[in-house]
Amino acid sequence: MILRETIDEVKNRLDIVDVISDFITLKKSGQNYKGLSPFTNEKTPSFFVVPGKGIFKDFSSGKGGDSFTFLMEHEGMSYVEAIRFLAKKYGVEIKETEATEHESAQQSEREGLYILMNYAEEYYHNNLLTHEEGQSIGLSYFRERGFNDKTIEKFELGYALNGWENFSKEALSKGYSQDLLEKTGLVVKKEDGSSYDRFRGRVIFPIHNISGKVIAFGARMLGKEKNQPKYINSPETEIYHKSNVLYGLFQAKNAIRQNDNCYLVEGYTDVISLHQAGVDNVVSSSGTALTDEQIKLIRRFSENVTVLFDGDAAGIKAALRGIDLILKGGLNVRVVLFPDGEDPDSYSRKLGTTDFQNFLKSNRKDFISFKADLFAAEAGGDPIRKAESIREIVTSIAIIPDPVKRSVYIQETSNLLKIGEAVLLTELNKILINERKKSEKERLRNTDEPPPPSDPIADVSEPTKTDASSMVQYQEKETIRLLLNYADEALEDQKVSDFLFHELEDVVFVNPVFSEIFEGLKEGWEKNESRSSHYFIHEGSEAIKSVVTDLVAQRYDLSEHWGDKYHIHIPREGELLNEMAYTNVLRLKLRIIQKMLEENKQKIREAEGMGNESEVDSILQTQIGLDQAKKELSELLGIVIAR
Ligand code: GTP
Ligand code: MN
Repeated sequence: MILRETIDEVKNRLDIVDVISDFITLKKSGQNYKGLSPFTNEKTPSFFVVPGKGIFKDFSSGKGGDSFTFLMEHEGMSYVEAIRFLAKKYGVEIKETEATEHESAQQSEREGLYILMNYAEEYYHNNLLTHEEGQSIGLSYFRERGFNDKTIEKFELGYALNGWENFSKEALSKGYSQDLLEKTGLVVKKEDGSSYDRFRGRVIFPIHNISGKVIAFGARMLGKEKNQPKYINSPETEIYHKSNVLYGLFQAKNAIRQNDNCYLVEGYTDVISLHQAGVDNVVSSSGTALTDEQIKLIRRFSENVTVLFDGDAAGIKAALRGIDLILKGGLNVRVVLFPDGEDPDSYSRKLGTTDFQNFLKSNRKDFISFKADLFAAEAGGDPIRKAESIREIVTSIAIIPDPVKRSVYIQETSNLLKIGEAVLLTELNKILINERKKSEKERLRNTDEPPPPSDPIADVSEPTKTDASSMVQYQEKETIRLLLNYADEALEDQKVSDFLFHELEDVVFVNPVFSEIFEGLKEGWEKNESRSSHYFIHEGSEAIKSVVTDLVAQRYDLSEHWGDKYHIHIPREGELLNEMAYTNVLRLKLRIIQKMLEENKQKIREAEGMGNESEVDSILQTQIGLDQAKKELSELLGIVIAR
């Protein structure tokens, strides 16, 4: 743990203009400073720094905060990393609570590994540029591939001399220990105790972590030696976990954020060639198949990924797998497929900068069109194959965690393939239910606990997410379900419809589909014409039809089914109507308040970031009011709210 006094000292010494100027060009403007937003691609400056308050505000992206926030947002640092970074910049000695012996040994071992890797990188790089063998073999190889000096510097490319001990001898003579050499994986120990250099007679691609430290190397052979892998990589070490690393991310991160898109390619040379073609927002998962962790890394900089793969069978297979993994990670994915036999590296060199960039722009497809085209080509006119291809697309949509996004993609697929939304939704639900069953089985296999109590009237669109907005929408749906099924039934002293419409007079529904149904029902109620489910099934859009159908179908399911199965009396929904209508109203209101509370918290953070105290005050007042309302509603519901 870093001590408070270190943090305070850093805060005292730092100057936000100075901190931000390391990354962005700032111009003085009155008391303040101005620059182009590093978070968007703007042409006129709307990024402001207020040195008097130590804060920045970016009006084009809405981001704002102090120097720490800036480093976290812009450089992807953690809070602790930002403190260390600034302490170093301002020469503040970092005082930490006494680390245990184990911790400090671990800490210094990691430091040692970083230092040696840094040394090795310089060593290989110098070999490439100044050693005779490096120049004649390594450098001429890179030249042949069209890499220029700037590129070679940017990626710190290198060359490992062809011999068993060149590197180890040099490193040992510089005082690095044999033990450390082995721990970095740069040297391989044999069973008889002797050892040799891992990389020999190969060109070297250093792999960096997000903050630019070298943590591993990839090494490509030059000739066509048989029985040798084309690439050799560093093994996993204390500082290198390959599933957690993306090649090129350090060099690409700012461009990824500015373009709000990340190109994903297969290899080292693809990344490098794209940079040379002026495309800087590119990474590769070199050495492993794409992993969940790598997708999370991308997510720190953008939610949009464009996958670039060879047009051959292997490339397509990799693209398909990549798409599903990226969708599962909650990101948006597009695909550019290259002509058969070309990869991003070869094709960018063939087309040259301008044509290549245009090619990327005009050939990218969203994953639905990509899959549709791919399978349509295979299916020809065969209806069975066509059905399979639709299932393929819906399978990918089912992977998306956000239900709202899912429904948008279903609409898109429906438009694109000219298939009714209801058909697609049925297919989607089938897949989701199967998935649920599977994960339930999985859960049962892994635990002896009884299953969690399930909500008997839940359907597949029960919120899988517990964010405030999904919770609101879930209750909105329940309101509509009650109205569609029981509008005219009598509660103690009024009809269900009277009760719900009076209670929810001022409520505007969040979900567009539910909102349309609710407003439609309300209109009918106001005109005193009762609108049944038929009205919507005949008049409504595909989305409305499918929602209404689902909700009406849920009417009697529960009690009859359960009663038969367990031979117990379960009160029919009708008998519980009073309670259900009442709790629905309370729950919906509570969820709305919770959503407002969340939004309000964000507003406070922003106002605080701006140092706008009077605004902070007024938002806090609102917060207190909302908290009070939440408490009252919770008490009425008899819910004990944790937190
Ligand atoms: P060039 O053939 O030089 O254009 O390299 P490339 O990066 O295009 O290689 P390729 O398309 O054959 O493979 C893509 C990526 O897979 C490479 O960048 C490596 O990360 C990895 N790879 C390829 N061959 C090997 C291998 O033999 N061993 C290991 N560990 N990784 C490999
Ligand atoms: Mn290649």
